[in-house]
Order: sequence, then C-alpha cells, then structure tokens
Amino acid sequence: MSIINDLNNNELLSHHRKCKIWAIGGGKGGVGKSLVTANTSICLALMGYKVVTVDLDLGGANMHTCLGVPIPEKTLSDYVSKKVTDINDLLVSTPIKNLQIISGAQDELGIANLKQMHKNKILSKLGDLDADYVLLDLGAGTSYNTLDFFISADKGALVILPEPTSIENTYRFIKSVYHRRLKMIEELLDIQPLINQAMNSKLSTPQNTPVELIKKVIEINPEMGQKLQREISKFRPKIIMNQVRSQNDIDIGFSIQNVCRRYFGINIDYVGYLDYDASVWQSVKKRRPLLMEFPNSKLVNNFDRMVQKMLDMND
Ligand SMILES: Nc1ncnc2c1ncn2[C@@H]1O[C@H](COP(=O)(O)OP(=O)(O)OP(=O)(O)O)[C@@H](O)[C@H]1O
Ligand SMILES: [Mg+2]
Repeated sequence: MSIINDLNNNELLSHHRKCKIWAIGGGKGGVGKSLVTANTSICLALMGYKVVTVDLDLGGANMHTCLGVPIPEKTLSDYVSKKVTDINDLLVSTPIKNLQIISGAQDELGIANLKQMHKNKILSKLGDLDADYVLLDLGAGTSYNTLDFFISADKGALVILPEPTSIENTYRFIKSVYHRRLKMIEELLDIQPLINQAMNSKLSTPQNTPVELIKKVIEINPEMGQKLQREISKFRPKIIMNQVRSQNDIDIGFSIQNVCRRYFGINIDYVGYLDYDASVWQSVKKRRPLLMEFPNSKLVNNFDRMVQKMLDMND
C-alpha cells in the first residue's frame, strides 16, 4: 500500500473520529513522555473529560505503573494477534475517575513493526472509543510507527529536556516527521518531478533548507508550490520543555520554535514548560501518579496551564 492511501485513510479517519487523539512523543528516551502523558491524562480527567490513555511504547510499556494499576492482562498485542477482537475489551479502569488505560505490548515481538493496515485499524478503533480524549504515549525514537501515530493524531506534542542531546533528537524527530509528511503530500499532489527539479537546482546552493526548497517549487510552479506550502503548514507540532531549572531552560523552547520556522517553514506551538521537581521520583517510587500524590506540587500548576493551552488551540 502506498503512503498516499495511508494519508487519505488518515485524513478520513481523523474526520470521523468521535474523540480527539493527542500523541506525546520525544526523540529521546527518558525525557518524561510517560510522565507527561500520565499527568496530562489525569488533568483532563479531573476537568471532567472522559479519557483513555494508550501505552504505545511498544516493548517498553509502563504506563500502568505511572497510573497506579497492575500490568493489564490484555494488551494491544492481543488485539493485533486477534486474540481479542473488540478493542473495548482492552480497557482497564484506573483509580482515577473518568480515566481508563489500554496497555501496549509487554513484549515487542510482532508489534514493534506494525503494518500500516494494523496502524490504521488501531487508530480508527481508538477514534471510536467512548471518550473525549485519547492520549498516546509514544515510544522513543523515530520508527515509522512512532512517526505515523504522531502525524495522524489531532495534536502531537514533543517532550524536550534542556540539554543538547535531547534538543538534537528533537530536531531529528521533527525532520523525520517533516520528510514523511512531505513524501505523503508529494504523492497526494502528484508532484515528485517538480520536487526533484527543485531539489536538483538547490544542490549547488549552500542554504539547502526545506524553506528554500519550497521557495524553489513556488518559483517553478506557483500554484502547486502554494498548495504544497499550505499542506506543510497544516503540520503544527507542539513542544513541551521538561525539567526546567532556569529562565534559560524555558527560553530554549522559543529558540527551537524560531529554528523550525526559519529552517523548515513550519510553526511550532510552544505549549508550556514543566519545572524540575524532586517529588516526581518520589511519586514514581511510590507508584502513585504525581498529580494525585502531590496535589500542591509546582508541577500541578505547570500541567494545568499547559493542558489549558492545548485545549485552547483549535487544530
Ligand atoms: N519534571 C521532572 N522533574 C523531575 N524528574 C523528572 C521530571 N520529568 C521526568 N523526570 C524523571 O525522569 C524519569 C523519566 O521519565 P519518563 O519515564 O516519564 O520518561 P520517558 O520519556 O517516558 O522514558 P522512556 O523513553 O524510557 O519511556 C522519571 O522517572 C522521573 O524520575
Ligand atoms: Mg515512557
């Protein structure tokens, strides 16, 4: 199946969804994706929304621990292998009202490289769940699984630490998603020859950025170029700076935003930052969600503000 069919499917899927899907990713392991997914889910549930948190860290699933439930008996692996036929049978309640969880695979065999067909089926069934919001905790890295779930979600947010390796991986992630989307749009608009022509003519110039490429396409074929630009600009990833300790750390989010605009020509929404807070590991150790264990922690305010900002964005 070509990427273009997938894109069409994805667009159809998102059109008919009953609930909104938010995906939380990050180029790197250990940056706080699961913490953000768990506590964003709790925040929404406490606001009165019906929420399902889905552990898509296939192979490294631990969302159940973040939400204080034992390893669920049935996981997405059972659904993919058809041992379970109704995705609703994977839902497990949590101690938090309005919040349920669907667990990912404990063992990555067979599910780490989901076929497009499976991905689409999972997305379409998740979109049909009886919920207001479905949150996906994506694994680390830039596998096609992760990129595709990120692209297909209604909102995709990246968690970033204020350190060079995490920032580098964030750019790598954004670049990979950008290229995957560009490929889809190329097929959708049937403009591969145009892109190739623009790319060839760009090879000799030093500023060979995606922004320059789009400019070149517009020069060659203004109508198609504009269309391409419109499609690209529909992609608006969100970023969250985690474990910040200073204003400098907070400002890194704005720099990333600027670089993405200049280099990729895409607008990134900086939806908020989360302070470094020692109570995080205490709650992890107690296997109790932070928002429940430390309702007065600074992070609770951070989460409230960030979630409100996400809700206010109509995309
Ligand atoms: N704001 C924070 N303040 C203090 N510690 C934090 C904060 N965010 C995350 N941590 C610490 O970082 C660890 C990793 O967080 P988490 O498990 O959420 O990351 P992850 O991105 O899901 O990792 P993985 O890629 O392994 O799934 C946590 O155990 C926690 O101790
Ligand atoms: Mg995790």
